[in-house]
Amino acid sequence: MSTPPSANVVLVGFMGTGKSSVGRILSRKMRRRLIDVDDLIERTQGRKISEIFAVDGEARFREIERQAIRTAAAEHRVVITTGGGAVIDPGNLSALRSSGCVVSLQATPETIYERVRSSKHRPLLANKPDLLDEVRRLLRLRAPYYEQADLKVSTDARAPIEVAREIKTLLDRAGIR
Ligand code: S3P
Repeated sequence: MSTPPSANVVLVGFMGTGKSSVGRILSRKMRRRLIDVDDLIERTQGRKISEIFAVDGEARFREIERQAIRTAAAEHRVVITTGGGAVIDPGNLSALRSSGCVVSLQATPETIYERVRSSKHRPLLANKPDLLDEVRRLLRLRAPYYEQADLKVSTDARAPIEVAREIKTLLDRAGIR
């Protein structure tokens, strides 16, 4: 883990683990700028992620995401929140890891299911006849990547503020303030 004062804090994890909400709170607590990679993509592309998926496909989205990750990882002393699939690309994971401390937000498939079941903006989970099954399947595929984070924090049955507090404590201990 890179721990100079310039180290970024990077939140990774499956959809619905609370990365964006926790990231917003954590960035305020740490007085750091927040870079939400999905927001950055939507701003630079001038369209929603669901539209990028629908018009250009997932492979094109991943190219755009790779570029946005490079941009975010080149910053210093920021909090970065990533999309759930960002760390599947080994180049993304290593760019994020060398830019700072990578924190994985974790949750059970059941918790994730409850959090994402009514969301309309996640193309990978849209129109699945058995959503819980799909969450389980994708989570199983992705778990090895999330495991490579420097720190892991459970978000089951916890509000974003509690999760942010725990991360802040862990970062303090690691000398990242
Ligand atoms: C994705 C997660 C989404 C978004 C895109 C793809 C994924 O972000 O990047 O829909 O592959 O898991 P959230 O994790 O913020 O929902």
